[in-house]
Formats: sequence, structure tokens, C-alpha cells
Amino acid sequence: MPTITFEDEQIECETGKNLRDVLLDAGLSPHNGPTALSCHGLATCGTCAVEIEGEVAEPSRRERTRLNFPPHSSDSGLRLACQVAVTDDLTVRKYEGFWGQHTEDGSRSDRD
Ligand code: FES
Repeated sequence: MPTITFEDEQIECETGKNLRDVLLDAGLSPHNGPTALSCHGLATCGTCAVEIEGEVAEPSRRERTRLNFPPHSSDSGLRLACQVAVTDDLTVRKYEGFWGQHTEDGSRSDRD
């Protein structure tokens, strides 16, 4: 059973579960703004972007397309939580900005 570390919390989940769903079910969020403003997992809004340490599958074309569209950039290294299946222990980090796009200064979101 994989363990996700996010904002100093540890959450166990079944293998294959969607990362965004696991976080939301645990009362956490990969969104810096209201979840209601998101696309709810369609890979179109980009607001669930997070940095992930750990083994995950390569991004789909749909995910890559969104992450290549501003304010994201192809070299950010971010992933869309709504497009990631959890298959291994992961450490997940949310950066500042509405989309969590401010990776350049290394600042983690101030929500925690
Ligand atoms: S919830 Fe919109 S891209 Fe993930």
C-alpha cells in the first residue's frame, strides 16, 4: 500500500488510486485556490500541478499538452495530480501561485 507524503501529512492509499482524489479524500488539496474552480480532473485547468518525488508513469499526451501551456512550462517538472495513478511511495509538493506554478523560487505553498 503506497504512502503519500504531502504537507507533513502521510496518507496511505490503494495502489492505482488517483493522486488528486486521494489528497481530496484526506481533506488535503493539490489546489491553491478553491477546488470548485478546477476542472475536476479533466486535465484542462492545470491548477492541480504538483512536484512529485517517486516512481509514477510517464505523462499522457493530454497531461503534457496542459503542462506546456502557460503559466506552466514544459521544463517545470510538475505533474497534474488528477492524471497520476499512485503506484509507489510518493512525496508531493505544491508550489505557490494559483496554478502552483512558481517553482523558480523553491517556495512551497504557504498553506501549511
Ligand atoms: S484538476 Fe484541472 S488539471 Fe487537474
